[in-house]
Amino acid sequence: MGVGSGTDALHLALRACGVRPGDRVITAPNTAVPTICAIAQAGALPVFVDVEPGTLNLDPEKLAAYLAAQPAPFRARAIVPVHLYGHPAAMREILAIAAAYDVRVIEDAAQAHGAEYDGRRIGGMADASCWSFYPTKNLGADGDAGMVVTNDLQIAERVRMLRNYGEEAKYENRVEGVNSRLDEIQAAALRVKLRHLDEWVAARRRLAARYDALLAEAPVLQPVEVKPARHCYHLYVIRSPRRDALRQHLQKRDIGTSVHYPTPVHRQAAYRHLEYAEGDLPCAEWACRQVLSLPLYPELTEAELAHVASAVREFRD
Ligand SMILES: Cc1ncc(COP(=O)(O)O)c(C=O)c1O
Repeated sequence: MGVGSGTDALHLALRACGVRPGDRVITAPNTAVPTICAIAQAGALPVFVDVEPGTLNLDPEKLAAYLAAQPAPFRARAIVPVHLYGHPAAMREILAIAAAYDVRVIEDAAQAHGAEYDGRRIGGMADASCWSFYPTKNLGADGDAGMVVTNDLQIAERVRMLRNYGEEAKYENRVEGVNSRLDEIQAAALRVKLRHLDEWVAARRRLAARYDALLAEAPVLQPVEVKPARHCYHLYVIRSPRRDALRQHLQKRDIGTSVHYPTPVHRQAAYRHLEYAEGDLPCAEWACRQVLSLPLYPELTEAELAHVASAVREFRD
């Protein structure tokens, strides 16, 4: 079901999966803020579980421990694993835990176009998968666009209603909905660009492997790829305890970088009311201090990449 944005996709998928105002929804604290905006729009309460140090995705052990510690009425209604940077979260473990506690799973696949898990494309494993086609994504429209993908016909029908003012049939409104259409122009652009997604992801993977080789001796942590996940490298994210100085060093050489993301959501002013303190989610907090996204896009040339890698290697404190 095409919708207006990735945020809308998550919001409507959560509601279609039965999330009601006041329900708890678990996600990772180092995600993009829109994951949390969507949970809040559904009227639910975001609950953060820390991430694992390698992939920086939701840690299944901590997820299981959290759910085991909650009395049934306060248990979460849904989990939103985020495939951060294009590396799929540990879906086998997360789906098994969710089944044990009868909790829904809605994937935030906004960064994972073309990623695979267990030999299958991301997008068909959970109750629903939510996509953003914001222009910077691996598959980007010319403006905002999003999509909910599900194998469950009831969820599909509910998303269709919710995105169209809650209409079950023309002028028959069964639920309170919203207006969230996938714009026709965006859909047309995406149909053309979709044909190129595989070649673009292949280029991203080839360039990421080249960075891996050139940065093997550099004083930074490189991104990991943990089986059975196949990374689609929406972002190539290294880690350094001297991240800000390294960033400045690269900036002086006209190399643009980004930080995804400098502040974990539980430490953002907007989410103070959730009452998390510094140190509550140490791995995510540590990651946010160290992560740095290097230039990576299918058209990046080998020479440009080598220039970036040598500038990273040259960096000394
Ligand atoms: C992980 C993640 N979730 C959700 C979104 C929201 O998507 P959109 O900007 O299309 O609303 C984004 C992108 O911005 C994202 O990176």
